[in-house]
Amino acid sequence: MCGIVGHLGSSHSIDLVLEGLKRLEYRGYDSAGISFNKQSGALEIYKKQGKLSNLVDFLGDIKEFNALSCIGHTRWATHGEVSDANSHPHTDGGISIVHNGIIENAEDLRTELVAHGYKFQSQTDSEVFLALLSTTVAKGTPLQEAITSNFSKLDGNSAFVILDSKTSDIWAIKKGAPLVCGLHEVNSDALVSSDPYALVGFADKLYFPQDNVLCHLSAGNKNLINFYEMDGTKSDRYMSKKQEMSLEVSDKGSFDHFMLKEIYEQPGLIRALTKYYFDGEGQETLNNISKLKPGRFLINACGTANYAGLVVKDYIEKFNKIPCQVDLASEFRYRNPLILKDDIGLFVSQSGETADTLAAQNLCKQGGIKTLSIVNVEGSTLYRDCDYNLLIRAGIEIGVASTKAFTQQALTGRLLSHALGDGVDKKSLKDKFNLLATRIDELLSRAEELKSIAESIHHFKGFFYTGRGALYPVALEGALKLKEIAYVHAEGYASGELKHGPIALIDEEMVNVALVAPELLDKTISNVEEIKARKGNIVVIGPQNDANSKRVADYFFGLNYEGLGELSAVYCNVANQILAYYMARFKGTDIDKPRNLAKSVTVE
Ligand code: M6R
Repeated sequence: MCGIVGHLGSSHSIDLVLEGLKRLEYRGYDSAGISFNKQSGALEIYKKQGKLSNLVDFLGDIKEFNALSCIGHTRWATHGEVSDANSHPHTDGGISIVHNGIIENAEDLRTELVAHGYKFQSQTDSEVFLALLSTTVAKGTPLQEAITSNFSKLDGNSAFVILDSKTSDIWAIKKGAPLVCGLHEVNSDALVSSDPYALVGFADKLYFPQDNVLCHLSAGNKNLINFYEMDGTKSDRYMSKKQEMSLEVSDKGSFDHFMLKEIYEQPGLIRALTKYYFDGEGQETLNNISKLKPGRFLINACGTANYAGLVVKDYIEKFNKIPCQVDLASEFRYRNPLILKDDIGLFVSQSGETADTLAAQNLCKQGGIKTLSIVNVEGSTLYRDCDYNLLIRAGIEIGVASTKAFTQQALTGRLLSHALGDGVDKKSLKDKFNLLATRIDELLSRAEELKSIAESIHHFKGFFYTGRGALYPVALEGALKLKEIAYVHAEGYASGELKHGPIALIDEEMVNVALVAPELLDKTISNVEEIKARKGNIVVIGPQNDANSKRVADYFFGLNYEGLGELSAVYCNVANQILAYYMARFKGTDIDKPRNLAKSVTVE
């Protein structure tokens, strides 16, 4: 969601913050702004709705100015329309703030402040915190105390970064939202951001503060960064690690979009995952996990990660006979779920920062059970909060539409089931993983076939993705991919369920993308016949030599499922990814940054 970057130290703060914000563009945003201190102590604020490039043009030569500290923000609107006024930073009384998250009791606080004569400049919830701060400081309270006392009045998850024009110092604090500080000791640079990726090359050491730890970036202090508890005492509630990310990964190379690049990375990532967990350091992690004795898994995730969770459930129930319950994290957190003492909470997430998934993890923790993540971002909040972690090792995923993360999440789930004792020997599972990589390579070499199907069907009004058994989660994921990047209405359904209602929508303007596997083939084809009889257009993604699948299809894409067994779902999903990608190309949408979407959803 919103991106935050702050810098204090050697000159060129503005340039550095703008570069950091540029790197966070992939997360989705609708306006951008910065504030910095002039030598005179005067605070300058520049903000513009729209792309970051609008702000850069608006800044003109100002970005060459030598500021000692600067904070910047890319906003993804929650409270108040997209406008210059609602963009961050907000400022009052020599204090400037940027915010990521939602203040749930903003309206009550705002009413109170207005009653005391405060004049708001924007419609945002964020400005409420600024108003609390500036009015408290105006009464003579030191800024540090004003931050902690007012932060505890806020409901909801938030991260704030605050620039104090009197000292040029930067303060930061968070609860349930991502925040990272960085240090470059040689250059004497101190930084803060919502995403470590913004700090690559600028900081060699990263610090991840826990909730309610106040971070102080100060030129006047030899440590540059200090951490405090809410009562003002020194805090050690933060994790530190070396910055290991590199920027090269964020290059599209010869691909037109990050999404396409990330789809093509999949075979290589599967091979690397196989090596890591079967022959490398990952063996030890699996070994530790193998000692767990879950009575049941409570799987929680959102969006694509939730569909990967459904695949993982299939694996664990099939191979380990351990019951699994998959919830949308946003529902789990409020439905008073039954948490039993032998349950293990399993959380699937690319970012490890999804607010609902974090809340579900917290609920499990409060329920006294062990928690385990299948996560991409090492050091993320989910990673830090869980008792055990299985990294999916997908590398940074820039495309908002998740592709390679789904594949790696499902496969890591298969490794979890193996570690828990699936009765399958290591060598044959390893061979199967490698075979999957080869099959995806072959599939990708035929992408033109899917492109041509996309060209023929992209103008239709609606899409039903259908699948049975292992392909049901893939149908859900296929429809989600199409919706989010091609902006067409698509739904995922279990093949046998369509006739219980949605079939009323079928006519010559509708498409059924039928996902077919050798398992339950005849039954699935019968369901396709029902759509065909009602003049629906049929795309079959199914077994390459199956005459029936070809017969019912208006458009056919053959898959070689031979030997893939339970990994077939992951394989078939790659065909959906390519189909959605080309549909979006023909529609001319903004594929890597689809409208209204954010890469990591850090608000409820
Ligand atoms: O970072 P997470 O895996 O927790 O994110 C969960 C969803 O927000 C995410 O998968 C979303 O559905 C993607 N945009 C789908 O492509």
